[in-house]
Amino acid sequence: MRKLLTGMLLLSLFSAVKAQQNDGYILPADTAVLHKLNQWQDLKFGLFMHWGPYSEWGVVESWSLCPEDEGWTQRRGPYSSDYNTYVKAYENLQTTFNPTHFDPDKWVKAAKDAGMKYVVFTTKHHDGFCMFDTKQTDYKVTSPKTPFSANAKSNVANEIFSAFRKENFMIGAYFSKPDWHSPDYWWPYFPPKDRNVNYDPAKHPEKWQHFKDYTYNQLQELMTGYGKIDILWMDGGWVRPLVKSDSVLAHEMGSKYNQDIDMPKIAQMARANQPGLIMVDRAVPGPYENYTTPEQQVPAAPLSHPWETCMTMGNSWSYVPGDHYKPSLQIVQLLVKIVSRGGNFLMNIGPGPDGDWDPEAYKRLADIGRWMKINGEGIYSSKAVAPYSVENIFFTQTKEGNNEYAFVLPAGEDVILPPVLSIKTGNARKVKHVTLLGAKQKLKWTQTGDGVDVVIPKPLQAESSGLQYAAAFKIEY
Ligand code: GLC
Repeated sequence: MRKLLTGMLLLSLFSAVKAQQNDGYILPADTAVLHKLNQWQDLKFGLFMHWGPYSEWGVVESWSLCPEDEGWTQRRGPYSSDYNTYVKAYENLQTTFNPTHFDPDKWVKAAKDAGMKYVVFTTKHHDGFCMFDTKQTDYKVTSPKTPFSANAKSNVANEIFSAFRKENFMIGAYFSKPDWHSPDYWWPYFPPKDRNVNYDPAKHPEKWQHFKDYTYNQLQELMTGYGKIDILWMDGGWVRPLVKSDSVLAHEMGSKYNQDIDMPKIAQMARANQPGLIMVDRAVPGPYENYTTPEQQVPAAPLSHPWETCMTMGNSWSYVPGDHYKPSLQIVQLLVKIVSRGGNFLMNIGPGPDGDWDPEAYKRLADIGRWMKINGEGIYSSKAVAPYSVENIFFTQTKEGNNEYAFVLPAGEDVILPPVLSIKTGNARKVKHVTLLGAKQKLKWTQTGDGVDVVIPKPLQAESSGLQYAAAFKIEY
């Protein structure tokens, strides 16, 4: 019983911290940032990509290097029984990385047809391997050690950003603050202990300064040599100023060290080069986390600040051969739920070692695109509107508030509608028109106290209607 009570207390303490974190949101003061943040919120659907030499083994990105005993850090493959041998072999993947089928225009086309409007790409993940032409290390795709360096498209991040920018995507650079290859983060003098810096920066300030400079210089390269960047998406929230050691957050972060990377200096440099840049210092509430990033989950209700769910299309962030990709039905319905709560959906596809996606990913995107062409008008530039959802009906509204959209989510692929559909918007305003997106038939409807009852003509009720994944009713006031 006592255990249970302590557990409950901890849980409520934890939610209190979470709530504080939410309250910790700081609206950017810079009007150029605010403006871009507003534009970004209209885009709703983006593409995330995790890519590096780890794709050659088809293992989790970076995490198998991390000496923490977690499900996602397990080492697999021929070298997995011995840590040091494994690390050498992992780092050696650089010498065989040669994704000759890399063709970012093909990705742009597929993403654009699916209705995606922005892209976030891993320029560097926790393993420290750079998918851009940094001058700070030769652990990079453009090093002569990497066979792909001989390819005209070897500066992969630049190729991706340029290709997507041409089609007016917003461009996001993912960058991991922790770097498990840097001798100034994991000092070879000590073995790495966990995900954190493996020495006390307070005891070795010159070493930590090196690491800060390294990070700053790499970010400066990205902010100056890669064209217009809209989002700097920084991962590894444990690299941050120390939080009080007795707090739940400190426990969660697992670090007793102050890993202050000097974000104000980074932000100043970044925004001097990229005016209006959206900064996402992930999981570090404050002035540099301009939107929050719930991971692999959809918040149950709207959040009071800009947010984005990041989620994998497969099970893994990285490429895994034969990964199970989510059905198109599920992806479309996730998008509807996220947008009805005011968020954006950043969906990840991990490119393979040959430089292309699994064919399944293209199929999903094509399905989503067909749906988006009909229903996108209720998605893009929309806002959340109470009651957000009633049973399987999810709502959005236009910014001006003159139209609402009611998305009916079926249990299976095909939309099956009842002879009379009650849409409980909770809105008593006078309705002018009700239409079903993608259907030409005029609809009869009557206004009820809390919404509209729509008469669904027989041919629109079942499979033959061709409606899939979700049907959107437009209600004009
Ligand atoms: C998780 C993964 C990390 C990945 C991130 C993306 O935290 O552990 O590898 O980059 O999600 O949101």
